Amino acid sequence: MRMYDLILKKRNGAELEAEELKWFADGCAGGTIPDYQISAMLMAVYFQGMSDREITEFTVAMADSGDRVDLSSITGVKVDKHSTGGVGDKTTVVAMPIAAACGLKVAKMSGRGLGYTGGTVDKLESIPGFKTSLSAEEFLKNVEQVGICVTGQSGNLAPADKKLYALRDVTATIDSLPLIASSIMSKKLAAGADVILLDVKYGSGSLMGSKEMAEKLAEEMVSIGELAGRKTAALLTNMDIPLGNNIGNSLEIAEAVQTLRGQGPSDLLEVSLDIAAGLLHMSGAGDWKKCRETAVNTVKTGAALEKLCQMVERQGGDVRYIDEPSLFESAAYCEPVLSPCDGYIWHMDTDEIGMISVSLGAGREVADEKIDHSAGIVICRKTGDAVKAGEAVAYLHTNCSEVLDQAKSRYERALTFARERPEKEPLIYAYITKEGVKYR
Ligand code: URA
Repeated sequence: MRMYDLILKKRNGAELEAEELKWFADGCAGGTIPDYQISAMLMAVYFQGMSDREITEFTVAMADSGDRVDLSSITGVKVDKHSTGGVGDKTTVVAMPIAAACGLKVAKMSGRGLGYTGGTVDKLESIPGFKTSLSAEEFLKNVEQVGICVTGQSGNLAPADKKLYALRDVTATIDSLPLIASSIMSKKLAAGADVILLDVKYGSGSLMGSKEMAEKLAEEMVSIGELAGRKTAALLTNMDIPLGNNIGNSLEIAEAVQTLRGQGPSDLLEVSLDIAAGLLHMSGAGDWKKCRETAVNTVKTGAALEKLCQMVERQGGDVRYIDEPSLFESAAYCEPVLSPCDGYIWHMDTDEIGMISVSLGAGREVADEKIDHSAGIVICRKTGDAVKAGEAVAYLHTNCSEVLDQAKSRYERALTFARERPEKEPLIYAYITKEGVKYR
């Protein structure tokens, strides 16, 4: 096979065959196709798209380009979730201990943050001692014995995606539905869970932007998962407003703990309960209402918080920080952003707020950049909230005093104010399964 012929075929709008897609995926993983030809193919896919058949076959080829995690030795239903990324999205740290406390086996490999979306691995690493790099044996043992393990991705999980994602990042081909769907699902299939729940975000702090595009992406990923023999569903959730009040790594862990104590923000709790209930429902534990009640009970009884503590302890983390999140080191500077007027917050430019938190040190603009676990933003007023002139709408936390002035004026510009309260948007817009879309 010649890469030139495959690029030409796709550029002219034809469909690639299974063996061609596999050859391409293996060539990306094995380093036998030069970057300029991979980039040309990415651009051809960006403009010509892929059929459903091509997307599924390409996803499976990418999943097969490296190791697949074998969870068959673990008893019970093995579950996983994936969020398409958002600002302040710490649902994994809340929803997955709830799911584990309900008896599911949570086997989750998470990523690091890049750009405005945070990564679960970075958040967990803000707990002193917490290890996110485990051997395959440790990972399997923890899932079996504790019921939950959240680690970084193993080095050889879908290596074709690693290559493609790095090139997409520099060739303006990130926002392509077939490329996003195959990228996410190749890693989920390789990670081995029986049940996969996707949290697909829409709104100004999301990858897809509109509800319509998010719905299309969700349907595509559900179809890939089901065709590959995994029980797969998606929730479409609102990322037009940051989730919860805290953005930044240790700030988000503290908020997740507060939420598992039943004292956190209601939006974070609601989305997390629905994710846990969805996983239970998909695992055959009964109807949605019953599953949700089971999930709620684990928060009420403290069982979910106890699961988080067990996970942290088993992975080497200092549990005192979960018992007492005020132990987390604070950033040297904490400055308020003040409301310029009386009225209501009409809109928040959520991806800009995510980027402001990156500028404060909480995230990275390029892979491998160091991050500051104590930096971030604590939001006091969100879309729909009433404000008074001069009161704080947020506090910016950083160890880098030079970035503060600019971050403050950027935050002010990221908010729009109005005299009336805007209409409330639903937090969870739809539930998507292979049977179709159920709007909430
Ligand atoms: N997350 C991924 O893993 N891949 C994408 O393409 C986008 C988000």
